Amino acid sequence: MCGIISYIGKREALPILLDGLYRLEYRGYDSAGVAVVNHDGNVGHIRTTGRVDELASLLAEHPIQGSFGIAHTRWATHGAPSVANAHPHADCKNSVFVAHNGIIENYAHLRAALEREGHKFASETDSEVLAHLIERALVLVGSAGTLDDAVSEALRHVQGTYGIAVVSSRHPEKLVVARRSSPLLLGIGDGEFFAASDSSALLRHTRRIVYLDDNELAVLTPKGYEVRNIRRKPVTKQVELLTGSPADIEKNGHDHFMEKEIHEAPEVLRNAIRGRVLHAEGTAKLSALDASVEKLSQINHIIFLSQGTSYYAGLVGKYMIEELAGIPAEVVYASEFRYAPPPLNEQTLVVAISQSGETADTLEAIREAKRHHVPTLAIVNVVGSSIAREAGMGIYNYAGPEIGVASTKAFISQLAVLSLVAVWFGRQRNLSVSRGREILEELQQLPHKAEKVLSMASRIHTLADGYASHEHFFFLGRKYNWPVALEGALKLKEISYAHAEGYASGEMKHGPIALITSGFPSVVLAPSDSVYEKSVSTIHELKARGGKVLAVATEGNTEIAKIADDVAHIPQTLEILSPILTVIPLQLFAYFIAKKRGCDIDKPRNLAKSVTVE
Ligand code: AGP
Repeated sequence: MCGIISYIGKREALPILLDGLYRLEYRGYDSAGVAVVNHDGNVGHIRTTGRVDELASLLAEHPIQGSFGIAHTRWATHGAPSVANAHPHADCKNSVFVAHNGIIENYAHLRAALEREGHKFASETDSEVLAHLIERALVLVGSAGTLDDAVSEALRHVQGTYGIAVVSSRHPEKLVVARRSSPLLLGIGDGEFFAASDSSALLRHTRRIVYLDDNELAVLTPKGYEVRNIRRKPVTKQVELLTGSPADIEKNGHDHFMEKEIHEAPEVLRNAIRGRVLHAEGTAKLSALDASVEKLSQINHIIFLSQGTSYYAGLVGKYMIEELAGIPAEVVYASEFRYAPPPLNEQTLVVAISQSGETADTLEAIREAKRHHVPTLAIVNVVGSSIAREAGMGIYNYAGPEIGVASTKAFISQLAVLSLVAVWFGRQRNLSVSRGREILEELQQLPHKAEKVLSMASRIHTLADGYASHEHFFFLGRKYNWPVALEGALKLKEISYAHAEGYASGEMKHGPIALITSGFPSVVLAPSDSVYEKSVSTIHELKARGGKVLAVATEGNTEIAKIADDVAHIPQTLEILSPILTVIPLQLFAYFIAKKRGCDIDKPRNLAKSVTVE
């Protein structure tokens, strides 16, 4: 995905656009650019490869005055990172400029047709066709036509997804934005207006926002804004207030957002639980579910849909739901569900898990589920995101903005919410009030217990330094901690670029153990749970072949230090909740190895925070 920020108002646009790009850089960071309409009506158009810093340096040498413009930071889909492929893209006359997030699926056909009409292309991207389509549409709408008329006409030809911002030197004081499946929201200031890919670019300027929905277009001028639908009819939109504060998008003394967000786990747990525990009844208070008790009482099959870390949270959720509520559950990659949905009926509940609420595969999978008339529930962190607004029911994480590309606090929050959902369904069925109370009481202890794990960060830092030179790792876990092993491997892979594989411990003997040689490192999750003895056997099997083992074990367990090379401890907790604690040492382990290796932890190569393209 990419990041778009645009501004129109009374202040100089450039500082606002640059600051917005820095806030959005986690969305994509292989190239960046701006187009600002300066006071004499020309457009200052500067682009560069690399990070926003590179762009800022260039603009310091070539400043552009002007009070409206657009800016973009890119995550390449079509065309390698280069200046020519960086956004904004221009038309043949260098007078229309477009920043785009999404994929134009029929761009090859459109480009061929435009080239036949004499349009000259300067890039390899799909996005550039938008600039030329608008250029052509301006001719069609004629001198009486407006920029927004031309944008609407151009978008009629587009198949695929877009969030776009458009300015033109021939249409002063007008900014046109539009969206289909790629997020775009308006910021309503005092005599100034913004449009951005997400709220992190707006929080410093305004809390008043308007979420655009699919196939909507907005025209912004210094005097106001208007939103229209695909038939060009004005649409009344609700102005909503952003929560959170600018501090949420600062590192607050940490070296990286990821480190800050790992240390937010206790607060994130409090926010996920707050107001959602009914102790007397031994159940959870979840308004989205409470409003659909009758429908949900018929559910006999649950399908979790998600990608990446959120998929691993779904694997934990499956175990929770099946243990507490006895409802068969499965976890399906959203990217697979879209093309091969399992049998569905009205007794199936589809649960989308997504931190960003904008993952294209998960969004499309939810839409596919709705086409099958299946009830849908979304567990989402970003308020007002597309998945949150399109699912039939929703539960927010309230974890605050997660800026680090590697998801950490969101995973912890997802597990806490999933445990509440499992208790809720369980108490609708055969879960006893005492068992419900036991789980909820322990859940409320976890913020404190997470603080205890985090207090050992320096010890894990020392441990991690001893593993930082290895290029291959296994992460192993059983039952509730098998998904945590998968998540631990992903964390290490995506920020340190070391190769890591997560396995169910029992699977080791069926092939992977062939890779164990002297010193081969494995991280084994071995808390004091129902499968602890089996986890100890796994450690023995690894040690017997010369492997090096870091075990995650329950504090007070002195035995495990006699067989593992290193041990990271967590406080005792219920097995069903143990992933919330066992994952924290793995997050820190990955973080410190990546730091030792000098990696770009918050913006790892090739990645983006939310994959809004398919
Ligand atoms: C996790 O560290 C990764 N950044 C990635 O796997 C992420 O979890 C996945 O893209 C899903 O994102 P979502 O939760 O925003 O849908």
